[in-house]
Amino acid sequence: MPLPEPSAVAAAAVAVGQAAPVPPRIGLVLGSGLGDFADQLSSAVRLPYSQIPSMPTSGVAGHAGVLHVGEVGGQRVACLQGRAHAYEGHPDSSVVFGACLLAELGCEAVILTNAAGGIDPKLRPGALMLITDHLNLTGRNPLIGPVQAGRERFIDMTHAYDLQLCAAARRAAAAKGIALDEGVYAGLLGPNYETPAEIRMLAALGASAVGMSTVLEVLALRQLGVRVAAMSCVTNLAAGISTTPLTHEEVQQTAADARERFVELLTAWLTEIGH
Ligand code: HPA
Repeated sequence: MPLPEPSAVAAAAVAVGQAAPVPPRIGLVLGSGLGDFADQLSSAVRLPYSQIPSMPTSGVAGHAGVLHVGEVGGQRVACLQGRAHAYEGHPDSSVVFGACLLAELGCEAVILTNAAGGIDPKLRPGALMLITDHLNLTGRNPLIGPVQAGRERFIDMTHAYDLQLCAAARRAAAAKGIALDEGVYAGLLGPNYETPAEIRMLAALGASAVGMSTVLEVLALRQLGVRVAAMSCVTNLAAGISTTPLTHEEVQQTAADARERFVELLTAWLTEIGH
């Protein structure tokens, strides 16, 4: 299913630009339970998604649906607090609309964040994992369809996760003394959590963590030439590794518990990117 209409993204950017005239340099997408980072912004303009034309809203708990434009870590940033997921029934054009809007607003780089289940045994609940590569197992791709003018059909994904942005994350983690794991994110459609057999399959495929977002946004952003980085908050042990059933409440609670480290690392990361 294709990307959003460029005219719709442009109209959304005009609405945001009227409310927040100074353009952002870095975009952030805040995942499940991780939206509190937006409270860090100073001089912030806050715009509910309902006031941005064509911007899809998320009905999932922990996804506020507010765009924040302001300053943090010495950077002018735009934060999407909440995203639309494919499992909610959104077409790909809606799933990636927010990411395309960040690009249209002028963001040269976008940091995507998410909650994920830990497959790699070293990833305990609360771990922060820099995503260095992904497996798109959603069966979907926003780049399917006519190629929009000036875009490439066969995009390179060798370094989809920007090497310099990853290096900046490692420096920020070291400077703050915050443990930062690294690994491969498997993006699935959801909305069910996986079966233990599926988790064993994902482990065999080389996945470190599993979630239900991010990969489609990365594809859209890479085609737009935007530099991408991503970080997971491991909110639970994946099915079968954990002996207890998984719940969205557990996911949100662990994300809330990791809030302080997540906010500190993200802020330091933005400062490093500016250097
Ligand atoms: N599986 C898929 N998505 C998730 C998980 C999980 O275990 N935890 C948080 N998002």
